[in-house]
Amino acid sequence: MLFSLRPKESLKELYNRNEEYKELSRLTNSGLWVAVLGKRMTGKTSLIKTFAKENNGIYINLLGAKGIEDLAKSLLTESGPKLEEVTVNLKFLQIKWSMVLEEAFQNVKDKIIVLDEVQEISSPQLLKILKSVWDKYSGIRVIFSGSYVGVLRRLLEPTPTSPLYGRKPATITLKPFSREMSKNFLISGFQEYPQTRIGEDEVEEVVEMLNGYVGWLTYYGNFRCERKLSHKEALEETLKEGSKIMLSELNNFLKNRKRELYIKVLRTVRTGARWSEIKRELNINSKVLNDILKNLTSAMIVEEDEGYYWIEDPITKEAIKKLRQ
Ligand SMILES: Nc1ncnc2c1ncn2[C@@H]1O[C@H](COP(=O)(O)OP(=O)(O)OP(=O)(O)O)[C@@H](O)[C@H]1O
Ligand SMILES: [Mg+2]
Repeated sequence: MLFSLRPKESLKELYNRNEEYKELSRLTNSGLWVAVLGKRMTGKTSLIKTFAKENNGIYINLLGAKGIEDLAKSLLTESGPKLEEVTVNLKFLQIKWSMVLEEAFQNVKDKIIVLDEVQEISSPQLLKILKSVWDKYSGIRVIFSGSYVGVLRRLLEPTPTSPLYGRKPATITLKPFSREMSKNFLISGFQEYPQTRIGEDEVEEVVEMLNGYVGWLTYYGNFRCERKLSHKEALEETLKEGSKIMLSELNNFLKNRKRELYIKVLRTVRTGARWSEIKRELNINSKVLNDILKNLTSAMIVEEDEGYYWIEDPITKEAIKKLRQ
């Protein structure tokens, strides 16, 4: 069902990601490691989970993982036996988790390994282990995804001292659907519920408001077809639920940053602004402003084109209104 709220797991349910799927296939089979990027709700998990399932690979979601220990345990569970054996050995032989993790990779080295939400593991040790895995098991195929902060950024922009320097994964960036595609997605989704109809004006309005983000379109469709809400209610609920998700994402991003300044920048670029306007509005040092803008664009929260900054995702715009200083 297109409007199911769970990530899709099969090609038959995966709408309009053929190109990206083929590209993922091509890159992975040519022995490259690949990072699948994209803003919230563009369908990253659906693409990589489908790819793993269709290719007898391993999909691991690291949401909530505390460190490499959790990754090692998940990989061991996938490769069958031995989790208990290993835990016993760890106690008696004082084996380190980093060694267990390397071995766990070895057990599954012939399968495609997909690691989602990889930023959750902040341990720098992970990069070292990945390097070692890359060097030892030639041809091992790994796909990463998650949000751009943390490990994913260090994987993709390794500094010369990083263990992964010179081993940067290839990237695939998922874009929101075009207007046409979004409309077709909604219409196809509604066709699976013959008792619920959507009017042409309604399709237009939804696409206007939600802007090609397949996840938000799915929410809307689900609210209408499963929960039987009216068009207006479904749109409102999508904005409400969605902005809650984005608000917590933003609050997470703002932890350990200059929150007040970031919020001011976000409010200024919410409706689009040139660099000079932002600078005037905030009256701060250019370098500080540039750093803030760089962090916001690489986290894919803010868009930039030739010195013009704006926020594309309507739900993020809504969430920014709710950010408290
Ligand atoms: N290509 C697709 N075809 C049909 N439904 C999709 C597709 N991509 C995503 N969806 C739906 O959109 C919602 C969000 O998808 P998914 O979790 O894959 O996105 P994501 O980019 O990983 O989100 P997040 O940023 O929260 O990790 C889910 O309900 C999923 O079923
Ligand atoms: Mg995801």
